Amino acid sequence: MPPSKSHQPSPLKVLIVDDESLIRCGLEKFVKNEGFTAFTAGSGTKALKIIEEQEPDIVLLDMKLQDSIDGLEILKVIKNSRPEIIVIMISGQRELYSAVAAMKLGARDYQEKPIDFDKLKETLDNIREEMSSTGGAEPGELQCVSEKMRKVFAITKRLAVKSDLTILILGESGTGKNYLCQKIHEMSNRRDYPYLQIGCSNIPDNLIESELFGYEKGAFTDARNSKKGLIEAANGGTILLDELGDMPYQFQSKILKLLEEKSFRPIGAIDDIPADVRILAATNHDLNAQVQHKEFRLDLFYRLNIATIELPPLRERLDDIPVLADSFLKTFCRKYDTGGKTIDEKGMKILQNHPWPGNVRQLKNLVEKLVVLSDSEIIAVEDIKENLEGVLVEVPVGKGAEEMGLPADLSLEAMEERFIRKAMDKSGGNQRKAADFLGLSRDALRYRLKKMGL
Ligand SMILES: Nc1ncnc2c1ncn2[C@@H]1O[C@H](COP(=O)(O)OP(=O)(O)O)[C@@H](O)[C@H]1O
Ligand SMILES: [Mg+2]
Repeated sequence: MPPSKSHQPSPLKVLIVDDESLIRCGLEKFVKNEGFTAFTAGSGTKALKIIEEQEPDIVLLDMKLQDSIDGLEILKVIKNSRPEIIVIMISGQRELYSAVAAMKLGARDYQEKPIDFDKLKETLDNIREEMSSTGGAEPGELQCVSEKMRKVFAITKRLAVKSDLTILILGESGTGKNYLCQKIHEMSNRRDYPYLQIGCSNIPDNLIESELFGYEKGAFTDARNSKKGLIEAANGGTILLDELGDMPYQFQSKILKLLEEKSFRPIGAIDDIPADVRILAATNHDLNAQVQHKEFRLDLFYRLNIATIELPPLRERLDDIPVLADSFLKTFCRKYDTGGKTIDEKGMKILQNHPWPGNVRQLKNLVEKLVVLSDSEIIAVEDIKENLEGVLVEVPVGKGAEEMGLPADLSLEAMEERFIRKAMDKSGGNQRKAADFLGLSRDALRYRLKKMGL
């Protein structure tokens, strides 16, 4: 059968299970907006009925239901009868411990209440990409053409197969650290075991130890039963300590011990337990500087510094931009069922001239926005400019680069160039107007334009 251009796969089905109707409605709206077909259930009994009748692809499952059947029970039933269904648990802060149990039972991920919709969106998008055979890179393949990323990929391949080796992944926010870690897991012979991530910055200091290591019965007042931690839940697999730079200082020595002795001790336990997991760590912080400020332990830094992969910011690998943009176009055209849309050469040039402080994540978000708002097959250059400008306008003036969401190492010169380009764009290329915008004399502007090669 010849491939027909208009053919789009039908939207994935998402079942939302939560006993709070407000959350149910909110999630339903969100999920529909994201292009899924939504079903909802307020009780476990109803959830099981819908799973039987509608065969959903994804289930968003609240941990606690008013019902006699709670979230974990439903998860068990799903994983027994329909293991291909992807389950994302939703838990309150207090239920984090059961979230660990849920991951162990085969849940893909857990989202804490209040729900972070950006994070949930990213998770759902990634699932959708995985489920559509045509889009994205093959497992163990990275989308990269630039010299820099090819080097990164070569190193990654070499290190990934050493399946006990701890790797530290560095890079600005949005450069693809989590993406790379997932690939590392898939490339290693741990791929058939769990891959778990723990965000060190969104877990309260006092919870991180019990999250990772678990605890014994009676270890503290609430500990009526013993609980396993993520390390045990991931047995045989890989754990990513995400945003490692934010890990509490006091806890870092325990991570060092874990790395050096490959064992850990649950809270309240007498003996150490051997840990059969690979540890990956990622951060967008400058660990060197953190060591100097006594926020990060020097010994742990040395230990982690053995195998590092640094992801270059997007503005340093311009060749990747068209490749990534094309792949994101495919993804989002499918998601919104728009038919194929493209960005032409001129549009790509504009994208390649942008500094991308939010890196690949920002490019991905922009492409999504363009797909949604554009009504032509070739995305109009004006649309691109306008939406990039939106990104620039949001930058507040008079704060440190970090606070502005800009990379800290962006030079004054680069900033100047950006503002000048923007002023020239705004004034339609009229130098007098642009000079006015910038508060410069025409001569001063001309001098700078010349310096920039314009
Ligand atoms: N090389 C790549 N190819 C395709 N998608 C990518 C690539 N790098 C990053 N992404 C996507 O960009 C987004 C941000 O990546 P992520 O790994 O979360 O960044 P970080 O952890 O560094 O902040 C994710 O949606 C991810 O899937
Ligand atoms: Mg990340």
